[in-house]
This record gives sequence, C-alpha cells and structure tokens, in this order.
Amino acid sequence: MRKPLIAANWKMNKTIGEALSFAGVFAERLYRRFPDKNIPVDVALFPSFLSIPALCALFANEPIHIGAQNMHWEKSGAFTGEVAPYMLKDAGCAFVILGHSERRHIFGETDEDVIKKVRAALDHGLNPVICVGETLEEREADETDRVVSRMVKAAFSVVDPEELRSVTVAYEPVWAIGTGREARPDDAEDVILGIRKTVDAIYGQDTSENLRVLYGGSVKSKNVRSFMSRESVDGVLVGGASLDPEEFFKIVDEGYKARRKFL
Ligand code: 13P
Repeated sequence: MRKPLIAANWKMNKTIGEALSFAGVFAERLYRRFPDKNIPVDVALFPSFLSIPALCALFANEPIHIGAQNMHWEKSGAFTGEVAPYMLKDAGCAFVILGHSERRHIFGETDEDVIKKVRAALDHGLNPVICVGETLEEREADETDRVVSRMVKAAFSVVDPEELRSVTVAYEPVWAIGTGREARPDDAEDVILGIRKTVDAIYGQDTSENLRVLYGGSVKSKNVRSFMSRESVDGVLVGGASLDPEEFFKIVDEGYKARRKFL
C-alpha cells in the first residue's frame, strides 16, 4: 500500500527564525502523538530556499522531510537567481515541488520546463512532487481532463517505470488554491482517478498503484478527512493552513485517521 504524504507548502512565507519556531512546536506535537517517532504517514515541509539548511539540520535523522518549492534543471552555470538540483540534495532535501500553478501562471513555467526539471530531480535523487490542475475557465469549459492529462503526459514522458515510486503527483485545481473554496471530494477523486488512468495508459495496467497522488487547494483540518478518506487520494499538499504549527499538526492527525482503514 502507498504511504500517505501530508505536505506543507509555505510559499513565500516565514523567515528562518519563524521556520524554526514552527518546527519546534510542530515536532513537539507530532512526537507527543507518535511517541516512538514511528509516523504512519510521510510528513514534509517545503519552506523558502533560505530556511532549508536550518530545517534540514534540525530534522536530520528525524521523520520530518524537507523539500524545495522549485529548482532549475541545469547542474550549474550562469543562471542568475536560480538554485540547482545538487544544491538542494547537498542541503538535505528529499523532495522538490515542480510545476506548481503559481510557477506556471505567475512565472510562465511551461510543460517543457517541468519536463526538464522532473528529469533533473530524478537524476539527482530528489523526489519530485509534480503539480497539475485546471483553471476555473478550463473547468467551466469542460476541459479539466484534457488539461490535466496533457500535464501528466508531459511530466511522465521522462519518467522510467521503475522511478514511479519516487514520484508524487499533486492535483491542485487553480481555482481552489488560496480561495477557501476547496474542490468537492467527488470531483477531486474523479480527476485523481483520471490521472491514474493516464499513467496506466503510459506504462501499462495497474502501474499507478505505485504512484502517490495528492489533493491540494484550501485544505484545512476541518476538510482533510473528506479527501483522505477516498482510497485514491494519498494525501494533501497544504498552503495557507500549513503556516500554523497547531493547525498543520491537526491536518496530519486527521489525515492519518482518515487513512488508517487503508494502511
Ligand atoms: P492553499 O492550501 O492555500 O489553498 O494552497 C494550496 C497550494 O497551492 C499548495 O501547494
């Protein structure tokens, strides 16, 4: 069975000091709940680049993973302002978010960029969390499946079948991000089942059984159960509600409770 992943995308929030004080409160709550530190779900924090070294040092050998929100695909060179995959690996990152809708829509990232980043992440031993999702316009035009499957096909064009276990997909409908308007769990499940079908069609039957697929978009402790109680939804990628350590702990705990029956 796939291990659930509950992840905090802090976006452009928190200084190093604020990241460390979150970490202290959150870890204390988590280890009080799971005293042997045997956490039944994967937990990952995605801080800004600047806080990565401090959090990686704090959680080295601890069951709280750290990842980056983006990276460049090249190994090194004249790319002012960018961060290379080996730098993230060297800092202690386990994961990297790629193709987040804010990268695609605000910074013009394309499927081609995402393809190069996915390959680079896997080549450097980083587990990519590939974000896909439709805009409100696309949903209203009934284009959700087409758009999402285009993004999935592009990203997986460079993933070998044996690498699927290292890859996570996050379905994040753009209209649900930061709006307080989460997707209906039925709709999220439909799209996620569609993602699994697309992946099965690429690699052959049942391959997507090994693939973690998350939901993201206005997730909080009060609604996480409605998503994670669906068998095909392996976890959540949380923005705003992950900034508060008590709330994010509750999301982990509620998510785990919803998932227990499948574990
Ligand atoms: P919110 O949880 O703030 O809607 O953000 C979701 C998101 O974009 C996570 O990557």
